[in-house]
Amino acid sequence: MFEKLKQHWKVNGLSLILIITTFALGGSLCGYAGRKLMALTNIDKGALWVVLYILLVTLLWPLSVLLVSIPLGQFNFFKKYIGKILGRFSSTKNNNTDEFVINIAIFASGAGSNAAQIIQHFSSSAKIKIALIVCNKPGAGVLNIAANTGIPSLLIEKEQFFKGDSYLPELQKNAIDFIVLAGFLWKIPKRLIKAYPKKIINIHPALLPKYGGKGMFGQHVHEAVINNKETESGISIHYVDELYDNGAVIFQAKCIVDENDTAESLAKKIHLLEHAHYPKVIAELLQK
Ligand code: GAR
Repeated sequence: MFEKLKQHWKVNGLSLILIITTFALGGSLCGYAGRKLMALTNIDKGALWVVLYILLVTLLWPLSVLLVSIPLGQFNFFKKYIGKILGRFSSTKNNNTDEFVINIAIFASGAGSNAAQIIQHFSSSAKIKIALIVCNKPGAGVLNIAANTGIPSLLIEKEQFFKGDSYLPELQKNAIDFIVLAGFLWKIPKRLIKAYPKKIINIHPALLPKYGGKGMFGQHVHEAVINNKETESGISIHYVDELYDNGAVIFQAKCIVDENDTAESLAKKIHLLEHAHYPKVIAELLQK
């Protein structure tokens, strides 16, 4: 439970303890202040007293926790937390449920350079929104990118992804319309493929069907290309089905492999191609 809270609030262990302490002390302070104020009213303890007391503590609670959060160094957390709660009351509409906006979830588990390019590309789009970053690796660079750009992130666990509900409720809650894999190395479960038919795409750092399949990802692909003395490589953007790197190809772009190229230098060439094309291909697909 504590792990889940840490991930949910994106805080470390010490902050979590201070946050829980703030909740406890803030709650007690608000209950105490509520009773003192009720005593001033001379209302007899009964149904009316209870109703008024509940209303009073509801109003006092944000003030109490904010007050307690200051000495405990958690003011910024609680300012945001309370802001979110008030936001829910002032608008029942989730930003992501605007029917004219296409909400994308990017699934990534690496450095996230492709995710960063895609986020940047759509940052001023009124029609396409990067609404969620889904990641399976704690500490992955893409999580920092999500935090720095203010995009919500979801850290997923293997068990729930493959044997549970595959996080479908979370995707639905965020009104996700389209899924973009950008360096995500787990196979996509049937359940998600069924829920998002022809709405999940992947980028692969080679010219599929060559150098695809299980175990063929990132540096392994480039090493295999170099070892086989290929003279060209490239990128493939394709629909995702139940097999690795198997769905219909949407787009490919090539680059030359020099005899001096190493897996590292080839990776750089491939990343340049990916960054130049992936956001544009997504935009074209979604404009159709
Ligand atoms: C990209 O090169 C992508 O093509 C590759 O992982 C890299 C992620 O880089 N994906 C695969 O190999 C999938 N089989 P990034 O984290 O910097 O975007």
